[in-house]
Amino acid sequence: MDYRQLIEYAMDARNNSYAPYSGYNVGAALLCDGGEVICGSNIENASYPATVCAERCAIFSAVAKGKKNFKAIAIAGGNHLETDNLTDYAYPCGICRQVMREFTDPDEFIVIVARSIDDYKEFTLSELLPNSFGPENL
Ligand code: THU
Repeated sequence: MDYRQLIEYAMDARNNSYAPYSGYNVGAALLCDGGEVICGSNIENASYPATVCAERCAIFSAVAKGKKNFKAIAIAGGNHLETDNLTDYAYPCGICRQVMREFTDPDEFIVIVARSIDDYKEFTLSELLPNSFGPENL
């Protein structure tokens, strides 16, 4: 699948974001090995720490469906739901990077941060989470 299409899925998922407290809406689209795409959005809570990020929402949904092999994730986030041209790239938080690390080869897994389908950056997870701790360390 082409990254532009994956970004479109992330932008769509962003519309399902529930972020009444921060006003920061995030969508993520996770590309599985078999080509399937599983999406997530951030879901906030009146008890703030109960919030889940879009990336973890997508990864946990996928794992709950029995999928554990992933190729890439596209992330789109920003303050206004009305636009698909975002001001900033929404980099994944540290907790989400560590959750990605659990299920992927960090040298192979691609993280795409997008402001629009034509304006995005891509990284390996290793670039975003160098010298990481993972399952093989235990
Ligand atoms: N958020 C994400 O969805 N992904 C991240 O990687 C960073 C932060 C969400 C959580 C919260 O709902 C809002 O953005 C502001 O932190």
